[in-house]
Amino acid sequence: MTLLKASEIDVALTDQRQLRAFIGDEPTRKVVDQVVTELMIPNAAVHRGGIRDAIRQLGEQRSPRLLIVDLNEAELPLSAINELAEVCEPGVAVIAIGTRNDVGLFRDLINNGVSDYLVKPITPLLLQKSLLSVLDGTSPTRHTSKLGRLIAVTGARGGVGSTMLAVNLAWTIAHRRRRRVALVDLDLHYGTAALALDLEPSPGMREALEQGERIDSLFVERAMVRQSDTLYVLSGEEALGEPVVPDTAALEALLRDLRNKFHYVIVDVPRQVTSCTHHVLETATNLLLITDLSLAGMRDTLRRTMLMPAVNAACQLSIIANRTGEYREGEISRREFEAGLGRAIDAMIPFDARSVTRAANAGQPVAAGRNKVAAAIQEITDKLAGSGSSRSSIRSWLERLTWR
Ligand SMILES: Nc1ncnc2c1ncn2[C@@H]1O[C@H](COP(=O)(O)OP(=O)(O)O)[C@@H](O)[C@H]1O
Ligand SMILES: [Mg+2]
Repeated sequence: MTLLKASEIDVALTDQRQLRAFIGDEPTRKVVDQVVTELMIPNAAVHRGGIRDAIRQLGEQRSPRLLIVDLNEAELPLSAINELAEVCEPGVAVIAIGTRNDVGLFRDLINNGVSDYLVKPITPLLLQKSLLSVLDGTSPTRHTSKLGRLIAVTGARGGVGSTMLAVNLAWTIAHRRRRRVALVDLDLHYGTAALALDLEPSPGMREALEQGERIDSLFVERAMVRQSDTLYVLSGEEALGEPVVPDTAALEALLRDLRNKFHYVIVDVPRQVTSCTHHVLETATNLLLITDLSLAGMRDTLRRTMLMPAVNAACQLSIIANRTGEYREGEISRREFEAGLGRAIDAMIPFDARSVTRAANAGQPVAAGRNKVAAAIQEITDKLAGSGSSRSSIRSWLERLTWR
């Protein structure tokens, strides 16, 4: 892994530290200090404290790439580790330090996504070895499988509300759930994700997608536009006279990098069948397919639904009917639509022109208000991200980060 020079770090998105340690006792802290200095890890911070402090601080700040936590004070180390996972960015590697010399605990921690567990008293050599194997990615754990969820949102037809849903889902997860979300609008010419959130388009997006070899973490961070500390947007507004030819390998690198940094990467996918849109469908953990309750909507929802098992069998597909009730008389009923489709509609979003246009004119997401569309999007969020407080449920770290 490449270490960033402090001068290269962009303050807007980053202030991400390379390493942070939360250690309770003086002798261990000394060892950590010594090893961090010897390995010349830049932008590192060694704090007094333990896993509780890590949970508190990382809930409010960016995660470091590498985290060393003292488990000492935790009565239930596994639930503490799971709580930590809830607040950490997916890509962070964790080394735990504790006093219990217990193989069962070691195995449980590793199974819950921790990269290594060291028993006190630790020596500089031991810690150095552990740090290096985690940094090289040679640590025996499944660190690489910790990725945020990739949610593709696409319309069965144009104008059915794919962008509306992508934007508002991103906003709801980022603001109501306080999870880190990257929203990507893959329509580089006509994309409206930035506009819907009253943000500037991202001029770096085209470059990122055309020049795959240039993609690195810093490049991606610079291209993103910040909506809040939990929501970042990539949405272009390229000149209409200039064709853009995105490179699939570049898109793949971009999405991988984003999934390392964000709990959710939500992609508004145009309906055109290109190698890029196909790549997103092939790798998505979830596909939200939006339709209206029309005959054409039914036909194309059916065609897309039938295609998915061959494209990406592991992808969880949800069918969402939007603008329901708009044409009360001409509309196909839910029951008829489901019968035609041969499966259930997972969620319905009512047509609510007043709330949607008001929000659009104010540059506000409709989900920020109190209205029927916001309520429906909240329900979809609950289904996707689980309802209730994100900290209350204790599932394994790995389970949460692969999110199937
Ligand atoms: N539930 C709804 N009620 C009223 N208007 C809606 C609703 N959903 C979307 N719209 C409006 O429909 C239009 C098309 O939505 P958009 O998200 O741009 O569709 P797409 O991205 O699928 O082409 C927009 O003007 C949007 O504000
Ligand atoms: Mg759109």
